[in-house]
Amino acid sequence: MGPSHMNNIENENMPMNKEKVVPEFYRDFRKDEERLGVWHFTHRHLQGSKKPIQTENNQPHKNKIDWKTIFPNHNDHIEIEVGSGKGGFLLEYAAKHPEIFTLGSEWDATWAYFAARRLVKKKVLDNSAMLRGDIYYFLRDCVSDNTIGAFHMYFPDPWPKERHHKNRLLRPDFLTEVARVLKPGKRLFYWGTDHAEYNEVALDIFDKFTGATVTQRNIAEPTEGIMTNFEKKYRKEGRPIYRSVIVFEK
Ligand SMILES: C[S@@+](CC[C@H](N)C(=O)[O-])C[C@H]1O[C@@H](n2cnc3c(N)ncnc32)[C@H](O)[C@@H]1O
Repeated sequence: MGPSHMNNIENENMPMNKEKVVPEFYRDFRKDEERLGVWHFTHRHLQGSKKPIQTENNQPHKNKIDWKTIFPNHNDHIEIEVGSGKGGFLLEYAAKHPEIFTLGSEWDATWAYFAARRLVKKKVLDNSAMLRGDIYYFLRDCVSDNTIGAFHMYFPDPWPKERHHKNRLLRPDFLTEVARVLKPGKRLFYWGTDHAEYNEVALDIFDKFTGATVTQRNIAEPTEGIMTNFEKKYRKEGRPIYRSVIVFEK
């Protein structure tokens, strides 16, 4: 049976434009009682199994948090770092700005714990913490409207292969959540990458997003002079770095 015949059978049985339904899962937010500075936002699993539990109605499991839970002393100035890695930026930023309450995020447990240990050592746990989980779902399901002062997103995974582009985090639906949770007024989104093509795609998404304006296009300096772990490495290698600042206004 030749491949073209196979295709015909596939086309008959599986319409090409069949909508793909992504299941919604219960995800719980909890403090790590053993690791200082770590908060988990992870799938609820069937007991004794790694299988996540699907929500009954296939709607997101909304579970809005009170920011006082993470930062009891916060002053309403909360910022979020997307994909903190080893936490180099978060650490320096939190030490420099005790008046800003910054939540780092990592879906990789090893890096989340690593970064949190650095926050403990640096004694900045009063105004910083690590979320272990997917920041997109955390924003969507846990963060109330108009509560965040700024976003930092530095050197996100570029997913360079075309078939993997769908995994990129800087997507319009991600920005919809960013815009929703940012406070009214002019709010900053700091962006940086070494990946030229992802950078162009991302800037195009910002350009097309209502309410967002790229005010420093590829000319921004490291935020407050603080370089991330990846940035230090890439600069040493002589790679080009693209940093921009985007203003969200509502
Ligand atoms: C290339 S690293 C950059 C880390 C750091 N920002 C730096 O510049 O050194 C990107 C990080 O984002 C994390 N990440 C990717 N997608 C994420 C998501 N949806 N939620 C939370 N973390 C994510 C990855 O685990 C990875 O550690």
